[in-house]
Amino acid sequence: MLRTHTCGELRIDHVNQEVTLSGWVQRVRDKGGMIWIDLRDRYGITQLIFDESKTDEKVVETARSLGREFVIKAGGKVVERFSKNDKIPTGDIELDVESLEILNKSKVPPFTIEDDTDGGEDLRMKYRYLDLRRGPVRRSLELRHKMLQETRKYLDSQKFMEVETPFLIKSTPEGARDFVVPSRIHHGEFYALPQSPQTFKQLLMVSGYDRYFQIVKCFRDEDLRADRQPEFTQIDCEMSFVEREDILATFEGLIKHLFKNVKGVELTEVDRMSYDDAMKYYGSDKPDTRFDMKFVELNDVAQGKGFNVFDSAELVVGIVAKGCSEYTRKQVDELTEYVKRPQIGAKGLVYVKYNVDGSLKSSVDKFYSQDDLKTWADKMSAIPGDLILVLSGEKNHTRNALNELRLRMGSDLGLRDKNTFKALWVLDFPLLEWDEETKRFHAMHHPFTSPLLDDLDKLDTDPGAAKANAYDMVINGVEVGGGSIRIYDRGVQQKMFDCLGFTPEEAKKQFGFLMDAFEYGAPPHGGIAYGFDRLCALFGGSDSIRDYIAFPKNNSGRDVMIDSPSTISNEQLDELSLGVKKLQEK
Ligand code: AMO
Repeated sequence: MLRTHTCGELRIDHVNQEVTLSGWVQRVRDKGGMIWIDLRDRYGITQLIFDESKTDEKVVETARSLGREFVIKAGGKVVERFSKNDKIPTGDIELDVESLEILNKSKVPPFTIEDDTDGGEDLRMKYRYLDLRRGPVRRSLELRHKMLQETRKYLDSQKFMEVETPFLIKSTPEGARDFVVPSRIHHGEFYALPQSPQTFKQLLMVSGYDRYFQIVKCFRDEDLRADRQPEFTQIDCEMSFVEREDILATFEGLIKHLFKNVKGVELTEVDRMSYDDAMKYYGSDKPDTRFDMKFVELNDVAQGKGFNVFDSAELVVGIVAKGCSEYTRKQVDELTEYVKRPQIGAKGLVYVKYNVDGSLKSSVDKFYSQDDLKTWADKMSAIPGDLILVLSGEKNHTRNALNELRLRMGSDLGLRDKNTFKALWVLDFPLLEWDEETKRFHAMHHPFTSPLLDDLDKLDTDPGAAKANAYDMVINGVEVGGGSIRIYDRGVQQKMFDCLGFTPEEAKKQFGFLMDAFEYGAPPHGGIAYGFDRLCALFGGSDSIRDYIAFPKNNSGRDVMIDSPSTISNEQLDELSLGVKKLQEK
């Protein structure tokens, strides 16, 4: 070994020991007679000291030749520091260097490799291998590692068996586009990369592996955001002979285990809410329940008073911002501008200030008396000192917009603390979603999700009204996981494909293997998948999953370090029958 200890290991108890360290030069401070070097590795930083009056001349000369990120090996004696550094665990000691060897030189790095770096995002992504040397990035990956280990520990303890499923498959419909891989051997044919292992895990249930899991890469060609990557990781699970309650209990267990063992947080309860209530009270299927500020619908008290904007609206709905009655004109104008941004698209914002003296002042005083406004306030449980914010318009659009405003107010009022965790199951999603463009239903979760038992008949009569036996886990407003009880009967599955507009031939071509399997003793089953990167980001207190992926793609789906995607040679194209030759033949 080129070291006896790591750079994070030495303490006051090691004083007087002869040790050898290896690592990267983070910083050199040359004060004439004395040189200090911060030596870094994965485990921490240790200070090296060279004293011109005592240290061997050659060693001092070598120390003076070092640049940032040189890789060195230093031997010497551990000594107590004269001025201690209580910011790092090794801060009581330093290494009085007696021998020094340069293991490898380094070019000057394009940004400083320290916790606070001067490197912008693009540069750091191009040199991700250098970025990964930095403390914050390393700590994020350490968190991910711990999450992986604890996930496996819990699922193994619950008798889940880890099974790998293939990456070169054919398309599974999870709602996004597939990444496809051309086949060389089978000209003109393509594999698809899995959007999830959904059909395989169901087949494993048919095979009798009644508790399956896999920590697995999934691939989706969709628009990217801070919480989406084209390739991401799921904790994918499936169970047989279970009902919804069994699955919810098992996976509440997983999330509690992770919180406890990774973060030291006891997550006491996981609340439950129906999809309909989530939309009605929060305007979102992933409500942030760290704070209340529920929607209150005001149609009955706000309409019919001559204010045309409200009278013509499908929905008039508001929230109460506690203690904000003294917001200035400027602050309210800013909120109005916020909701009018094209991304949110509200036409305007009505406010009512419930002043501490009990009077009410609104932006629509022309239409509403003090008594009218008091009725609103009472309905909304507002008290003097509060600010009421109201939006109106088409139902879904208005709910979406008020959701954005609620989240914004929650942030402004400091109600979204990163160290508070509120977990929630959202239940009873609609089974199907109508798409105006294609004039057909889409599966809201995926086509293998079972309707609620009581709604089975609706597949024939009113498919749009059927509810799914599906559930999402939402923590602090982030959808961290989702799953469902599955259809396991060939007839019901066929009916579901009918509702989705598949002809029997299309269904057979795409999913014949699954339907066939259902005829060989498919057990009742259900499952869930957690978005692993999202869980890591949530645990780490970040909004971006990129920080928790060693080699992520950027906002436009590029890996700027390896420069991918990129073109391939004409020979490769020809071999895959995608090339010029093939076109010429045609
Ligand atoms: P779903 O599509 O809801 O379900 O995905 C499960 C979870 O995966 C995460 N996720 C993503 N994370 C990062 N980047 C993405 N592009 C991305 N897309 C999804 C989310 C989501 O909750 N087969 C079903 C699961 C099942 O029914 O068992 C499925 O994949 O956190």
